[in-house]
Amino acid sequence: MADYVKAGGLGDVAAALPRALRTRSDVRVLIPGYDEVIAGAPDLRLVGRVPARAGIPACDIGETLAGGVPVLVLVCPGLFQRGGSPYVDGSGQDWSDNAVRFAALSRAAAVIACGNAGMEWQPELLHLNDWPCALAAAYLRWYGSDVPALLTVHNLAYQGLFPLEDAAVLGVSPEQAESITFHGRLSFLQAGIVHADHVNTVSVSYARQITGPEQGCGLDALLSRHAASGRLSGIVNGIDSSWDPRTDMHLSEHFDLHRWEGRVANKRRVQRALGLPHSDGPLFAVVSRLVHQKGLDLSCAVAHQIAAAGGQLAIIGGGEPRIEAEVAALSRRFPSSVGVYPGFDEGFARKMFAGADFLLMPSRFEPCGLSQMYAQRFGCLPIAHATGGLIDTVEDGVTGLLFNSADADSLRRCVQRAFRTYRIPGLLSAMRRAAMLRPSSWDLAGTEYLRLYERVLDARVPELQ
Ligand code: ADP
Ligand code: GLC
Repeated sequence: MADYVKAGGLGDVAAALPRALRTRSDVRVLIPGYDEVIAGAPDLRLVGRVPARAGIPACDIGETLAGGVPVLVLVCPGLFQRGGSPYVDGSGQDWSDNAVRFAALSRAAAVIACGNAGMEWQPELLHLNDWPCALAAAYLRWYGSDVPALLTVHNLAYQGLFPLEDAAVLGVSPEQAESITFHGRLSFLQAGIVHADHVNTVSVSYARQITGPEQGCGLDALLSRHAASGRLSGIVNGIDSSWDPRTDMHLSEHFDLHRWEGRVANKRRVQRALGLPHSDGPLFAVVSRLVHQKGLDLSCAVAHQIAAAGGQLAIIGGGEPRIEAEVAALSRRFPSSVGVYPGFDEGFARKMFAGADFLLMPSRFEPCGLSQMYAQRFGCLPIAHATGGLIDTVEDGVTGLLFNSADADSLRRCVQRAFRTYRIPGLLSAMRRAAMLRPSSWDLAGTEYLRLYERVLDARVPELQ
């Protein structure tokens, strides 16, 4: 939840969606009490407790407020207060007890829903996000609860796979383990898909694509059955109102649809910060986790083309050491055309969206993608592979440029189109305006989620009679 800690786009969604729902439903967020959460919630008051079970220790539940949304914090220092990041230790290795850590989170959600955590409040529905809490849908069923669960898959490639032998520690019997076993391992994500009442993903196109073998990550047959019975759908993410080039507090130069001077000033700032010389050629940006999914090898493959044609490439990101090294080598090879800012920095990422002319997003797959929407809002045109949420949010030739196949040649041709577009100022401005005006507020997505909650609740009623 980006208010406290963020490892990717899910952190943005976890912060924004509850805010969009706040005035329309009694929503609460449950998150693990990581160091950052405990430090960011000095007013935490204890409101409940989840008893120990099998190898899962007892946890307290604290409550605080973030942006007007009540947040339930699962307090268990032994599991969650240990430095590193939510999922990996300081050296980038998965925490060895992730099964217990996220079973504890999942079980806490189920115990709260069952009314067994000593709390006054109980939810009518659990909305689970990704594998770390997906096991909650299974616990709910195993505990005999009537509370329905909606699972949102933000990325099917991360499944939460653990050795079968962990089952006993998680309080899962051998019979129960059957439905959540994936090729000889426990799969938290499969548990959610099998036991939730409904599954949705963060775009309509990705919901369709994961029913096929290419993007189904081995779960496509199961997901196809869900789709056939109307239990799989898609809702594209929104972006929150802090993404506004007229007011963004991270920018020292602001701009709007009718005044581009601030944009140009931001471009100069990015060039200076990355040690790139002043240039009026197009500035291409990459703002990304440096992982295979994001197609960084394709972005690196077009660096030479961009430099040769008088453009520049600015990269901000961190992730796999091999890709980090590749990116660093590029900036040494093209010192006046490629600038790199290693790591994560929200402020600088925003400056890049505000100053760059194009955003490279050659993702191999993309459940939704937020960076392209942030770029659009700031008048930076995405150059994106036509997959998943990128299909649903980028209109080719209008609010960005799309290419059809995730290979270097296709990206190269699209980069050529970008150079041609850049040379026609009237077209560039028209596309920028269209991108900036594209509706992408969380109010729209929030309304769709409320409808889906109703649908899931209604589907339960006949079963209960
Ligand atoms: P994913 O969640 O797969 O990484 P998204 O596009 O949904 O992809 O979300 C990525 C989020 O992380 C966006 O908010 C983006 O701006 C941010 N981000 C990515 N890389 C960086 C970075 N190096 N520094 C700061 N923010 C970043
Ligand atoms: C995942 C996906 C990304 C999506 C984000 C938020 O990290 O990779 O496409 O935008 O979740 O839903």
